[in-house]
Amino acid sequence: MGRIERLLAAMTLAEKIGQLNMAPSFRAVTGPLARYDLEEGVRSGRVGNVLNLWGSAEVHALQRLAVEHSRLRIPLLVGVDVVHGHRTIFPVPLAEAGLFDPHIWEQTARAAAAEAAADGIGLTFAPMVDVARDPRWGRIVESPGEDPWVASEFAAAKTRGFQGAHLHAPSSIAATAKHFCGYGAVTAGREYASVDLSGRTLHEVHLPPFAAAVAAGTAAVMAAFIDLAGVPMTANVPLLQGWLRGRHAFDGVVISDYNAIAELCAHGVAADTAAAAALALCAGIDIDMASQAYVEGLPEALERGLISAAMLDASVLRVLRLKQRLGLFDDPYRGEEAAARDSSTRELARQAARRAVVLLTHRRSVLPLPAQVRHVAVIGPLASAASEMLGPWASAGRPEDTVSILEGLKHALPFCHIESNCQDARGIPAALECCRGAELVILCLGEVAAMSGEGGSRADLGLPGDQRELAEAVLDLGKPVIALLTSGRPLTVPWLFERADAVLATWFLGSEAGNAIADVLTGKFNPTGKLAVTWPRHVGQVPIFHGQRPTGRPARSGERLTSSYLDLPVTPQFPFAHGLSYSSFTLRDLRCTPCTVKMTEAVEVSASVHNESPTPGEVSLFLFVRDPVASISRPLLELKRAGRITLAAGESGSLSWQLPVAALAFIGPDLEAVLEPGRFELYVGQSADPAALLSCSIEVVA
Ligand code: NOJ
Repeated sequence: MGRIERLLAAMTLAEKIGQLNMAPSFRAVTGPLARYDLEEGVRSGRVGNVLNLWGSAEVHALQRLAVEHSRLRIPLLVGVDVVHGHRTIFPVPLAEAGLFDPHIWEQTARAAAAEAAADGIGLTFAPMVDVARDPRWGRIVESPGEDPWVASEFAAAKTRGFQGAHLHAPSSIAATAKHFCGYGAVTAGREYASVDLSGRTLHEVHLPPFAAAVAAGTAAVMAAFIDLAGVPMTANVPLLQGWLRGRHAFDGVVISDYNAIAELCAHGVAADTAAAAALALCAGIDIDMASQAYVEGLPEALERGLISAAMLDASVLRVLRLKQRLGLFDDPYRGEEAAARDSSTRELARQAARRAVVLLTHRRSVLPLPAQVRHVAVIGPLASAASEMLGPWASAGRPEDTVSILEGLKHALPFCHIESNCQDARGIPAALECCRGAELVILCLGEVAAMSGEGGSRADLGLPGDQRELAEAVLDLGKPVIALLTSGRPLTVPWLFERADAVLATWFLGSEAGNAIADVLTGKFNPTGKLAVTWPRHVGQVPIFHGQRPTGRPARSGERLTSSYLDLPVTPQFPFAHGLSYSSFTLRDLRCTPCTVKMTEAVEVSASVHNESPTPGEVSLFLFVRDPVASISRPLLELKRAGRITLAAGESGSLSWQLPVAALAFIGPDLEAVLEPGRFELYVGQSADPAALLSCSIEVVA
């Protein structure tokens, strides 16, 4: 018998249930809190895991109670939402996804893990890998966006980053792929609402990122709050036991979401706490986050025969095994040596943040700011809002360590007179006064952090409050205006895109936001950020995404009986992967070789690209495919690869990919993957804008 089996044999029922109990601490509040004695819970062995606690002193004090004062001395596991950084905050995931760069995704997770581990954290509730296609949903900010291939690459990179080569390394923390699954498709984008997805969309879009996280070795998976076609995910046997544990052989820990086991009663599938606890345990939920339903309900569930002792033991063993893998039995105070809060982490935050800025429009050449600019007005409610730059889920990020837009600009333009006015519409006259003598205006608009994230659904995607009034008054001055949109989602502001000289999506960029924005505006960094989500013109177009299926009646302008709107174009404001640069690139010579290829082979896809501008820059190219005739109608575009190349002024280069034909498989009529021979179209472009894609085709033969 090994150490953990011996421990299991020595445990009372209450101690076993304690290992399945994760109790909230009061350091951060991310759900309903009941008053209870956390220290007594740890000492008595009824609390084996804690969430929302950090700081080595605080964690070690509680850990000491567990390993010195509880009967079996089992160490605590501490979990926190380290979503986009811990002390140093990186861009929110929706923005970071727009880098299309697994290397940086991994590096930022690695740096976050080191900071978190040094603060006593053993597990993060991240990465969030829900594919999200509805910007009304506040949690789109935490997601890698609309595309399943991007979400899968993101899931794998983040898992590798958080966990490192070994979970027991002092700078590694356990990852949790969440929220399994389908949460991104909540009805009407409304938080916690029901989800009803076809099996096909589930398998094609929502499950692949979880498969990728499992393949990358994620230590944990979190079940989603929602019900999927009437079956709450907290009690979903086919998906948790069948797909996750069965088909994908996941043997790690499954954690409920916050209070979700108790909420099975409100979902209307359990009559009481014992039944709710039994449903969750039978579905394979090992850890009860915050609801106390396991503590209160499992003893009775056992008595009523709703669960077996063996099921309970299996869950306890999984939790103990995770603690063992993290090295907590050998060093319950692990992580101290990981203290990696050095300048390289800040530098990484700046790199990631400036790469996440998306230049949405550039109507007149106002950017980069001319070196001789001497008087700039920085206007709007987000101009000096350092704490808002951190965005939602900012873990231990501190506003005082965060660079506001105004500070970043002042630092970058020491010889320029920068006047600022951070009022909203109530202060319009003062704001206009501030603009009077300026050569140009930087308008800092958008959402505050609390307008997205959990519970941050919005029915309207416009600028909140009176910001439009302020912006239009400034635009009416007729000066050059550069608008910066701070937000956790695309904002529908077509009037701004029409009138401002340039608009940049600056999301929530984290600790280095202001410096990163200044790097882009001054031209120190030529923008490379792309949209990981299609940007709608109007909320009525939602959900809108590049992987739509064809219709029998494609939209034709002015023709009524086609798939269109009477009052809006069907095209988005900006397509998926859109993002301008100060350089301009042209693409040519798309080649796919060989033209006829066997199912077991690969095709080489290459394209030439030319920097036509006098500015050196980086161009990103995206490889999409389409299967025009198949047993199932296939999306018009499916992203398969992305790549980038840096080109000097006037320089040409080429990019190529080896695409295995197996990547052309899809979910067939029986929901199993199938690869059908025939012709496939391949497209390469700088975004998913169909009008600007180069195409070629290949013939796949059996
Ligand atoms: C609820 C959220 O849905 C989940 O993502 C998070 O990890 C937990 N609260 C803990 O804060």
